Amino acid sequence: MCGIVGVLGQHEAAPILVEALKRLEYRGYDSAGIATVNSGALGRRRAVGKLVNLSDLLVHDPLPGKSGIGHTRWATHGAPSVNNAHPHKAGPVAVVHNGIVENYRELRAELAEHGIGFETETDTETVALMTEHFLKSGLSPIEAAFKTIDRLQGAFALAFLFDGQDDLIVAARKGSPLAIGHGDSEMFVGSDAIALAPLTNKITYLEEGDRAVLTRTSLEIRNEAGELANREMRKIKLDHARADKGEHKHFMAKEIAEQPIVVAEAIRSYMPTGADQVVLPDTDLDFSKLDRLTMVACGTAFYACLTAKYWFEQLAKMPVEVDIASEFRYREPPITDRTLALFVSQSGETADTLAALRYCEGKADKIVSVVNVPESSIARESDVALPIHAGVEIGVASTKAFTCQLSVLLMLALKAAADRGTLSDEELADHAAALRGLPSVLNTALDQNRAIRKSAQRLSEARDVLFLGRGLMYPLAMEGALKLKEISYIHAEGYASGELKHGPIALIDKHMPVVVMAPRDAVFDKTVSNMQEVMARKGKVILVSDDDGIAEAEDGVWSTIRMPHIHPSLAPILYSVPAQLLAYHTAVAKGTDVDQPRNLAKSVTVE
Ligand code: F6R
Repeated sequence: MCGIVGVLGQHEAAPILVEALKRLEYRGYDSAGIATVNSGALGRRRAVGKLVNLSDLLVHDPLPGKSGIGHTRWATHGAPSVNNAHPHKAGPVAVVHNGIVENYRELRAELAEHGIGFETETDTETVALMTEHFLKSGLSPIEAAFKTIDRLQGAFALAFLFDGQDDLIVAARKGSPLAIGHGDSEMFVGSDAIALAPLTNKITYLEEGDRAVLTRTSLEIRNEAGELANREMRKIKLDHARADKGEHKHFMAKEIAEQPIVVAEAIRSYMPTGADQVVLPDTDLDFSKLDRLTMVACGTAFYACLTAKYWFEQLAKMPVEVDIASEFRYREPPITDRTLALFVSQSGETADTLAALRYCEGKADKIVSVVNVPESSIARESDVALPIHAGVEIGVASTKAFTCQLSVLLMLALKAAADRGTLSDEELADHAAALRGLPSVLNTALDQNRAIRKSAQRLSEARDVLFLGRGLMYPLAMEGALKLKEISYIHAEGYASGELKHGPIALIDKHMPVVVMAPRDAVFDKTVSNMQEVMARKGKVILVSDDDGIAEAEDGVWSTIRMPHIHPSLAPILYSVPAQLLAYHTAVAKGTDVDQPRNLAKSVTVE
């Protein structure tokens, strides 16, 4: 996490750095800071909390200079404080860092032997101090930075700025992404290309182990072995405009409301008008040649994978394993060359998912990713990258990316079913027709906003909430609980309905709201029995179902949320809407920071 930027420009750097940091704030918002070189003198400003605090500080205490580096922090080592905020400065060098220096204790001990003390609790300060130490020993800024980088273990994207050098930034990448932007006699550095979008669309991505020396008119890249490396400069298409909230109060509300449009776009791009078959561009992917699918992701994307497991198993009769990336990467699971390894990630930069992908390289038949950011590391390192077309997602809690992930995964399962001959043409056409109708059904679900807000008002008074679902609704129950806890800070858990009686039912009393996700499908009766068990113990049930389900089971429930009828396979996509809106309105009722909830960041680039 954390976002870093750098600029060697023709104009004042501070406003450019702050604007670029705004585009990186999704990576963390515990503190922010910038450093510039002005007439040779290195200066910095830092502020705790969101970027706006740094902007305010700069109004009262400006920082001139046309070269600079900046940082927005998601705290790993050391509490969020001004002292721990980046850039870290040691004498004539300032450093910004995204990642974790894993051997910082060892490096600290080494520096301490030279009588060097520390002012912060961070791992990054060690980088600045070590560089200063090498500078003092007579090395040039570039040599000192390179020698320091050689000593670092862990994950990092780094940018160094030096006193007396207003045309130099040294940057390095290992484990955390870094993009270099080419301007007109200007050069930029950013954690991602989106940060640099208003400045340039000419981007060079550093590769693992690369270090770069930037001036306004030159870029020299060396690989980990110190050899000159040729890295392609690409012109990339970027969404220049920073998305705004439109008529909505929060980005999350806007992104929930956008779902009919972006899901339609996702469906159109894999199921062209008139076709009943899924068409994957630029790939010869053939599921009939595969024995197994291994899916890996984190958080919400993991729940999308868990949902897809039901689809691949039921529709394509394909064995599927789903794993949390942070577990998968260290478990050393055997992967055969008849396995398709599939990675799902909105950002495409999640460190654990990327590491899991690298583990599968050379083992699996193919590496496929389902991503929202086509220029991301995960997309670039996959054999096949399938974009989900959700558009930029700014709210930290993932909403439209989830439903677009689900839509693309369902279409992938249909492609698998077609390749393996497990669904007839009629069944495939039936699914295709249902998918095409999905955007308008999503619109109908959004019309329930007011009713959902009422239920949320009641939820906001709860201390704990359970979500129950069976079959395809089980992963969604977990996703609904995740949404609620991350933005409203109410403790919530998602359970398979049938699992409740094996322990969690002990939690049920008159204070416990239980959200039951239950379309009138093949397992409805079973779910309703479990719901009755909750009500018999005075649990307060919010039943989310369709007309038939509500007519059959509404007696005695606390409240109902009415969904339109839907093809059973598509229900998890549709029922995502009430899950998201419940969380959203509960958080609004509680007055929490919906778009930037505490302790979180949008892109998790550390382990
Ligand atoms: C929750 C949420 C996270 C992400 C997870 C993976 O609302 O957004 O759980 O889903 O951090 O992120 P990506 O999809 O970027 O790999």
